[in-house]
Amino acid sequence: MADEPTPRIRIGAAADYDGQTVSIQGWLHNLRKSGKIAFPIFRDGTGFMQGVVVKAQVEPELFERVKHLTHESAVRVRGTLRAEPRAPGGFELDVTRLEVLHAVPLEEPFPITPKEHGVEFLLDRRHLWLRSRRQHAILRIRHEVVSAVRDFFDSRGFTLVDTPILTPAACEGTTTLFEVPYFDEGSAYLTQSGQLYNEANAAAFGDVYCFGPTFRAEKSKTRRHLTEFWMVEPELACAELDDLMNLAEEFIEAIVARVLDRRGEELKRLERDTTKLESVQRPFPRMSYDDAVKILQSKGSEIEWGGDFGGADETLLSEDFDRPVMVHRFPTAIKAFYMQPDAERPELALGVDVIAPEGYGELIGGGQRAHDLELLERRVVEHDLPKQAFEWYLDLRRYGSVPHGGFGMGIERCVAWLCGIEHVRETIAFPRMIHRVTP
Ligand code: 4AD
Ligand code: MG
Repeated sequence: MADEPTPRIRIGAAADYDGQTVSIQGWLHNLRKSGKIAFPIFRDGTGFMQGVVVKAQVEPELFERVKHLTHESAVRVRGTLRAEPRAPGGFELDVTRLEVLHAVPLEEPFPITPKEHGVEFLLDRRHLWLRSRRQHAILRIRHEVVSAVRDFFDSRGFTLVDTPILTPAACEGTTTLFEVPYFDEGSAYLTQSGQLYNEANAAAFGDVYCFGPTFRAEKSKTRRHLTEFWMVEPELACAELDDLMNLAEEFIEAIVARVLDRRGEELKRLERDTTKLESVQRPFPRMSYDDAVKILQSKGSEIEWGGDFGGADETLLSEDFDRPVMVHRFPTAIKAFYMQPDAERPELALGVDVIAPEGYGELIGGGQRAHDLELLERRVVEHDLPKQAFEWYLDLRRYGSVPHGGFGMGIERCVAWLCGIEHVRETIAFPRMIHRVTP
């Protein structure tokens, strides 16, 4: 059969070709069949398309070929597009020709079937699991979050200045450092946060952000922790705690609105209750750490003033609100060495944590940075940090030091919340956790 010239289209663009004969190239996602009719579902990464093959209407050879298709075989298909409101993408394809480019053997079938699999089974096959509709929805929402983040800062005059991944010292405490042998220098460490470099960049460029992978040798096996995660971190050259809280709520509001606006289909696939996201609007409630501790105690938490919140505490705090809550002014003793103390109560640090609703925990951590040289020198000693490795950072307090600050948001936490899914492990293509570095 000679090929007529037919446009090769992406499934996601089917609406532009209503009624036309087109060809698509992709994989067989699913097949329902009877003796008389077959409904193969194809996917090509941009979408899913149900094909229709009626035995009485096509060459017998074509019907046979379709009937014997195996899951995830690669195919090139030709057919006519027909609007079908009940079909997932709004169209069906009346198949007139099908070529198998690579057949998955019957005796070694695609390991992931529509039946329920355990999560470890699926994580072991993450490279294949990514082909599922659920994973598409989650990772497309992630992509939307990432582009919303960039647009937010780019449109407000921030400069993207990325920070190094191999670093000579800790930023967020020494207990979660990944150590890497580094030639004659001894050891380097995978970055926990770009913040310290961000501060240098902010003093050079004004408002900056960095956005990249960060690492924590977290021993905690929770639904909120990965050992490798992506963090976006804005840093403002002249800013105090209130400015940072204002920016954080505007930022989160913008991301949520963007995902609601553009990823409705994906949220629906995940059965997300979007009314819970629609209420995420400014202003967000703000409460001091002091008040948060009282509220927690009244709700039965064991927390004492001076202690850090556990995951359960964060969930308790968030349950009274339909939008994120901002907790500020934590005890200096439980926060990082670089935090600016509150002038009125130096035992408190001018930091803020933004806690997501619905029990998703801390989305954002940040605050104002200590800008006084002597104070910071003392802190380096108190925190037992290698002074030599921090000399460059102290230089920022020697040359034009001003109140400044910023924050970091973990992309995976944000995506898990927006998707309404149980665990952060599905929000990144290849999750890294305490017991998993493969595939
Ligand atoms: O609160 P963190 O540790 O703050 C910092 O690293 C600051 N230096 C950021 C800054 O001010 N520039 O981490 C910030 C956020 C958390 O709120 C959380 O969303 C995410 O990063 N995060 C993690 N996400 C997944 N897995 C982990 N192990 C995470 N640790 C932190
Ligand atoms: Mg934090």
